[in-house]
Amino acid sequence: MKKWKVGIVGLSRGRGFLNVFSAHPEVEVTALCDIDANKLTEVGDAFQLADPARFTRFDDFLNADTDIVLVATPIPCHAEQSIKSLEAGKHVLCEQTVAYTIEECQQVVEAVRRTRKKYMMAENYCYFHYIRQWKKVVESGKIGQIYYAEGEYIHNILPLLVEEKTGQFYWRHERPPIWYCAHTLGPLLMLMNDRIVRGCGVTSGFKSFPQYKDHPGFLDFELGLFQTEKGSFVRIHRSQVPASPHFVWYSLYGTMGHLENRRVRGEGFIYLRDQSPPEGEPFTSDTVDPNAPPEARKGGHGTSEYYLIRDFLNSLEHDTTPPIDVIRATEWTIPGIVAHQSALEGGRWLEVPLLE
Ligand SMILES: NC(=O)c1ccc[n+]([C@@H]2O[C@H](COP(=O)([O-])OP(=O)(O)OC[C@H]3O[C@@H](n4cnc5c(N)ncnc54)[C@H](O)[C@@H]3O)[C@@H](O)[C@H]2O)c1
Repeated sequence: MKKWKVGIVGLSRGRGFLNVFSAHPEVEVTALCDIDANKLTEVGDAFQLADPARFTRFDDFLNADTDIVLVATPIPCHAEQSIKSLEAGKHVLCEQTVAYTIEECQQVVEAVRRTRKKYMMAENYCYFHYIRQWKKVVESGKIGQIYYAEGEYIHNILPLLVEEKTGQFYWRHERPPIWYCAHTLGPLLMLMNDRIVRGCGVTSGFKSFPQYKDHPGFLDFELGLFQTEKGSFVRIHRSQVPASPHFVWYSLYGTMGHLENRRVRGEGFIYLRDQSPPEGEPFTSDTVDPNAPPEARKGGHGTSEYYLIRDFLNSLEHDTTPPIDVIRATEWTIPGIVAHQSALEGGRWLEVPLLE
């Protein structure tokens, strides 16, 4: 049996993937890279990887014997490391989002075209157990045609923005909340089988943290309202600093029914028009597939990473387009970039370019 040789760059989030890759019978992790030598030693020792397979310099890591590079570094590194990996003949699985600018997104698309290697964005929320169940419901036609959807990803990550005692900022401080839009838009657009063509955004600014007004990561919130190619509408809400619990919430309105997961506590629901009066039936909001093997839970977000990796490897095995290929990845990245630009311009509607 051929084993795929995997190299992982970025060993914080990358460690969750390392857990799942290491348990995969068709995968051998053959190289690790992190600029933090201590982290490299810690993870390399934990996974018993020999010294020559450990790299602090990305360009050296590219010379290692790998078929696949998993890019799990901060987002500002994604485009350059993805392009260099593709050009070194590797298939790329890259954390989300693709990049912070439309120009860089275009450069990644061109590199995939030029090198004919596979690229998939590791948007794992699409692989939550309940989203996979919803996909079956939507594809069965039970809720009809989806005409409106909402997604909220609210996550207080203040300690990842700034070290309060020292005042040292971390990489996420410069990321406006809505740039991180793939966890909301990804599952919604996948279920709607649609693409965003126009959008606008708003924010109230820095009311919660006026002292950090030069750091977009501290914006109170950003809302994006989008129109799709099929004429449907999508609203997303992002915040990284709220005084509220962490949750991700989705709601999809179809002509025949409605789906939503639990917001903070309780069950999710499916409502069907032909129930009279419509009473929501409890529907799972679980991120874990109870039928998946135990190693499937090792990625950190339910069983999502396990199924994501399975789909990516299948696309390599059968030479098919990965489910979240480079074009789809940009379609789940660029709307957030445009919505933030709109918010800076007072909320005016802007075109969202579709890359080819
Ligand atoms: N999908 C998810 O659920 C999820 C969850 C967390 C993070 N992420 C994504 O994972 C990525 C990494 O996030 P994180 O939380 O691990 O960040 P982090 O800051 O905790 O860790 C980043 C790691 O990358 C290393 N690094 C930084 N620059 C590097 C470079 N140029 N070359 C090699 N190594 C470098 C750092 O030393 C660090 O170990 C981001 O894209 C983030 O959006 C996704």
